[in-house]
Amino acid sequence: MALNTDKIRENFPILNSSKPPVYFDSACMTLRPQQVIDKISEYYIKYPGCAGRSIHSIARKVTENYNGARLNIQKFFNAPTSEEVIFTRNTTEAINIVSCGLGLKKGDVVLTTDREHNSNLMPWIMLSEREGVNHKVVESKRDNTFDLERFEDMITRDVKLVSMVHTSNLDGYTIPAEKIIKIAHDYGALVMLDGAQSAPHTKVDLKKLDVDFFACSGHKMLGPSGIGMLYGKKDLLLRLNPYNVGGDMVIDTTYSDYKLSGLPERFEAGLQDYAGAIGFSAACDYIKGVGIENVSRHEQSLNKLMTEGVKDIPGLEIIGPADASSRGGILSFSVEGISPHDIVMLLDQSSSIMMRSGAHCVHSWFNAHNLPNGSARASVYIYNTKDEVKVFVDALGKVVDFFRKS
Ligand code: ALA
Repeated sequence: MALNTDKIRENFPILNSSKPPVYFDSACMTLRPQQVIDKISEYYIKYPGCAGRSIHSIARKVTENYNGARLNIQKFFNAPTSEEVIFTRNTTEAINIVSCGLGLKKGDVVLTTDREHNSNLMPWIMLSEREGVNHKVVESKRDNTFDLERFEDMITRDVKLVSMVHTSNLDGYTIPAEKIIKIAHDYGALVMLDGAQSAPHTKVDLKKLDVDFFACSGHKMLGPSGIGMLYGKKDLLLRLNPYNVGGDMVIDTTYSDYKLSGLPERFEAGLQDYAGAIGFSAACDYIKGVGIENVSRHEQSLNKLMTEGVKDIPGLEIIGPADASSRGGILSFSVEGISPHDIVMLLDQSSSIMMRSGAHCVHSWFNAHNLPNGSARASVYIYNTKDEVKVFVDALGKVVDFFRKS
């Protein structure tokens, strides 16, 4: 079903001003609908207490709504149980819970792709330095798609974890996760997916995927910033050592001993971002209302238009597969001889187009490809329109012309 973008846009306050921005930076952070903002305000206005501790009625309302948010998010991702859904600050924290807790040791191998965000690269570099863990990178094919054959060559019984970006924030490409998980499991390796860019855009069915750990962030899917999720299979979560320790993750202590709480509290030490979790759940409801399949279809149709519109701009090179339908809602590109920062600055100044430039926290890929300035990246979501794409294509042509002539 085609999205009714006019109706959707009414829900986003920033798009209802007299001169709304062309917001093409949703891969970094999406806008938030009024429905999410209202749920966050409701917590602060009506029941601004703490969950799971005090037993007065305000606190009980927080507990009820916080647990309700967890249940709703469990259903959104079709996770087997809600205790396997851990609230975190973001994807980065979720990945760190796994990297710090798994107890990987010298000689254990961790496999990643060659286009990991620093959040799924730094943990393994650090573990290599500290513990002698062997981090290996599966290089993509020449067309930037996942090299399944190379992966099959690299996987051995020494691989303890395959930790990969599900959908790349660099170019929008999605790896064949189900095949990768099946192969990894055949070798006894666990699999973690960095789902920061897949969760907002495609159906993620955790039961069907059979993935061991899955991490994502609220702020990339219409939810608040500072809230994210780690999903893990129950038996595996119970094997992790919590690295953040303190209140509510223990049920009893003496001066020298403790008894750990069960799941999910074990990984949620200290007071939590209750408004954030409730807002995250409201964001899932909003996406559910739109229909995740409609989200993917809408982004792909806009990306097809963008790709066709820019492909003849002299010196412009698109990062990732040539086919727009393999790049979700992301168009990442460089233009020979022009800094991506200059392009993005001028698009903002001339046409109020908001995009991101630089390495997008994937410095390692840009360094390996000798692109020290990174790229300019347009990333669309449910509130973007064909008219905005036209504005972007037109403005980009003029900006490139301007730099060529100056
Ligand atoms: N991962 C975020 C981005 O791609 C910050 O912009």
